[in-house]
Amino acid sequence: MTFNDRVEAYIARIEGVLDHYLPAESVAPTILHQAMRYSALSGGKRIRPLLVYASGEALGVAPDMLDAPAVAIELMHTFSLIHDDLPAMDNDDLRRGRPTAHRAFDEATAILAADAMQPLAFEVLATHPALRDHPAIQVRLTALLADACGSRGMTGGQSMDMTSEGKRLDPAELEHIYRLKTGYLLRASVLSAAYCRADVPLATLHALERFVDALGLAFQVRDDILDIEGTTAETGKTGGSDLASDKATYPHLFGMAEARARADELLKQAMDAIADAGPSYDGLRWAARFIVLRQRA
Ligand code: IPE
Ligand code: IPE
Ligand code: MG
Ligand code: MG
Ligand code: MG
Repeated sequence: MTFNDRVEAYIARIEGVLDHYLPAESVAPTILHQAMRYSALSGGKRIRPLLVYASGEALGVAPDMLDAPAVAIELMHTFSLIHDDLPAMDNDDLRRGRPTAHRAFDEATAILAADAMQPLAFEVLATHPALRDHPAIQVRLTALLADACGSRGMTGGQSMDMTSEGKRLDPAELEHIYRLKTGYLLRASVLSAAYCRADVPLATLHALERFVDALGLAFQVRDDILDIEGTTAETGKTGGSDLASDKATYPHLFGMAEARARADELLKQAMDAIADAGPSYDGLRWAARFIVLRQRA
């Protein structure tokens, strides 16, 4: 059995845990809980949770330990998507093939649904039964997630993304933004599994960091390519959104051929970083190929 054969089960697993932690729609305030469930249980590739479990396979960490970080990261990701789509940011109407949260509900509800997902993510890390007897791991996972999403991580990257609209950045400047807005949450996904053990050798940790740092950049390059080339049926989003707001993206600033070449190069870098590792790393190899070769945005 390959990792690909386990993907469906891992997705069902993460969705089960998400469903468990998200308050029921019947719980007041019902509109808020409807919006939270609408956004979090609407499909999506679940690539971050998959990276958490694939890293667990690589390092021999059982999925039971990983449910909490996988769900916490997916909640933070969903919060970032809801805000990313708002009129004040990317102003998008479609997400995962359905109206964006502020379209399906209203702006205030969308903002608040995203707001509520952040404390919920940390609540999951603080209360999940599998981590209850491991306070040192809980603290490390909490710090990792906070750091990945804060002003020096995803939120900072989103800020730089917004202030860079219409600007001619050089590749290093653009990749710095990609690293923050997209890369850090992927990095947290891989490191979460490593942080569940105290005995991961430094060389292993560094190889995983090199792997995921390349992959994080590749993920956003591919997303930017798909914004131009992907159909709505494939991406579940409205194409051409980046061009409409004159976003600083790889294909827009440096051309489609450059963007493809960079994605290929980053995939190779990621694969090289774990080339010496055995078959337990095949899930991470699957994720890397999926990220760069996917048609789904
Ligand atoms: C979209 O993330 C936002 C970016 C960081 C480019 P995904 O492409 O992982 O979105 P879903 O979760 O699959 O919908
Ligand atoms: C978003 O990048 C990164 C986030 C942190 C949400 P994009 O703005 O390109 O993501 P999409 O294309 O809307 O999913
Ligand atoms: Mg954006
Ligand atoms: Mg966007
Ligand atoms: Mg995009």
